[in-house]
Amino acid sequence: MSEIINKLKTKKDSITYEELVYLLSTDKYDQQIFELADQIRKKYVGNEVHIRAIIEFSNICKMDCLYCGLRKQNKNLKRYRMKPEEILERAKLIAERNIKTIVLQSGEDPFYTTEIIKDLIIEIKKLGVAVTLSIGEREFEEYKIWKEAGADRYLMRHETADSKLYKKLHPSDTFENRKKHLFKLKELGYEVGAGCMVGLPGQGPKELAKDLIFLRELDSDMIGIGPFIPNPDTPLKSEKGGDLNTTLKVIALARILIPTANIPATTAMGSIHPFGRQLALKCGANVIMPNLTPNPYRPNYTLYPNKICLFEADTACIDCVRAMIKGLNRKVGETHGFRIKYSAV
Ligand code: 5AD
Ligand code: FES
Repeated sequence: MSEIINKLKTKKDSITYEELVYLLSTDKYDQQIFELADQIRKKYVGNEVHIRAIIEFSNICKMDCLYCGLRKQNKNLKRYRMKPEEILERAKLIAERNIKTIVLQSGEDPFYTTEIIKDLIIEIKKLGVAVTLSIGEREFEEYKIWKEAGADRYLMRHETADSKLYKKLHPSDTFENRKKHLFKLKELGYEVGAGCMVGLPGQGPKELAKDLIFLRELDSDMIGIGPFIPNPDTPLKSEKGGDLNTTLKVIALARILIPTANIPATTAMGSIHPFGRQLALKCGANVIMPNLTPNPYRPNYTLYPNKICLFEADTACIDCVRAMIKGLNRKVGETHGFRIKYSAV
């Protein structure tokens, strides 16, 4: 076996930035990386695949991220906001289907005040589920109030750990600031999810290696990785998107570097390849996030084109992902699927 794969196997914590750049620059070791990620996934998080139902409750956003279809300047999008009662009703239906995590996701929409989110958390927690927030950067004080109200997890991808690229893509934000928010959320006791897109313009092996180093530094509890998919209604419409193999490799390396993290097979993976999510589940992923956004809203949460699941029947994605998990000879997670704690990993 080659020295570098041996190092990934036995001394992952001493893998350097330069070594990651190298692995990301050659396809020579790809099969070995994928196989090792699958073994490590099995050893540390087992055969269970955890299901997290996602409710995309508002597509209104005050930000202008260059890649995202929800950006404020996109006028070709029918905007919606679900009422708190509608969100709660949806959460109840999900809990009745025996799903143990509800993810509340939206654009950065100030309509949902500290109190509205807090009351939603309190009501949804009564259903016995874990609650994940994915609503962007808010005040530190709000993170604290929502944690105390019972929120369990917070997803906020770092998008790219290259400060220059971050600035280009997010004119009104910085990577340093995003980093502060993620560390603050950890300090408050949330399970924290970071992650990045793969194939962004100007992003190569060096930038992707920075993403992996950052995820290790944060000790990210959850890691969302997907290909960048150019959206025709954004300034990045003419760029090339991320490819399947590179994205799988970044997922696999994330699994190898942070063995106990919960890593989803993302919707974007399923959107660039008919078996993209299944392949991710074989290269390190152990989570899947079916779309439970109700109609008529669902087709309007268009981060990127060709998003899967937009026209499936109401709750069909739950049955679909259950069948997918079984089809891969894996087990449907029946617990809340918190990160497994090991004394020494
Ligand atoms: N392609 C792929 N992923 C995207 N996201 C936003 N826009 C795109 C796009 N065009 C991702 C971001 C964000 C998550 C909710 O969706 O990483 O954090
Ligand atoms: Fe939506 Fe399969 S998960 S159709």
